[in-house]
Amino acid sequence: MRSVVAISGASGIIYGVRLLQELPGEKILVISETAKAIIPTETGMTVEQVEALADKVYCDTDLFASISSGSYDYDCMFVAPCSESSVAKFACGIADTLISRAVSVCIKEGRKLIIVPRETPKSAIMLENELKLARCGVVIMDANPGFYPGPKSVEDMVNFIVGRCLDRACIQHSLFKKWGE
Ligand SMILES: Cc1cc2nc3c(=O)[nH]c(=O)nc-3n(C[C@H](O)[C@H](O)[C@H](O)COP(=O)(O)O)c2cc1C
Repeated sequence: MRSVVAISGASGIIYGVRLLQELPGEKILVISETAKAIIPTETGMTVEQVEALADKVYCDTDLFASISSGSYDYDCMFVAPCSESSVAKFACGIADTLISRAVSVCIKEGRKLIIVPRETPKSAIMLENELKLARCGVVIMDANPGFYPGPKSVEDMVNFIVGRCLDRACIQHSLFKKWGE
């Protein structure tokens, strides 16, 4: 199993960190410049500590990276968290950073793409951009946890969203108690 994880500059960096901790197999990571600035303030981790969770790390300006090409194979790509600026780029097909190029390729190749947008409230522009992506088969996994598993902590709420991402990628986990279990 090989996954691509992109962390963009929205609040909720912890979603990307937990995904990297939970994903099995090989992990390729790209962190946007704004996300690099947010990492220490939100997580108390350094960028290097987050990067150490991946097997391969690319710079967001490196358009020569393997994941820029449709011929490079992987199972699933995640953008978590996903800023609305990135959502807008993805919806318009702008591919001028490694993250936006990899997403554009992922969509054109019909690969599995799960994004975790984090913004509230959402403008009509944001909603239309997300709808456009959903119509292309992108899974819009809003950073919007369910309360039915009875979360007791922020970690439980983060695990819910990360667990739902893993569900959609067909990866077994026990991050939260599913309805009926
Ligand atoms: C501390 C901080 C928190 C932010 N939180 C969000 C957010 O939750 N959602 C969002 O869409 N943008 C947020 N932004 C704005 C984005 O970082 C900004 O639009 C940036 O251009 C996104 O670029 P990127 O997607 O390439 O990282 C935040 C910015 C900062 C500095």
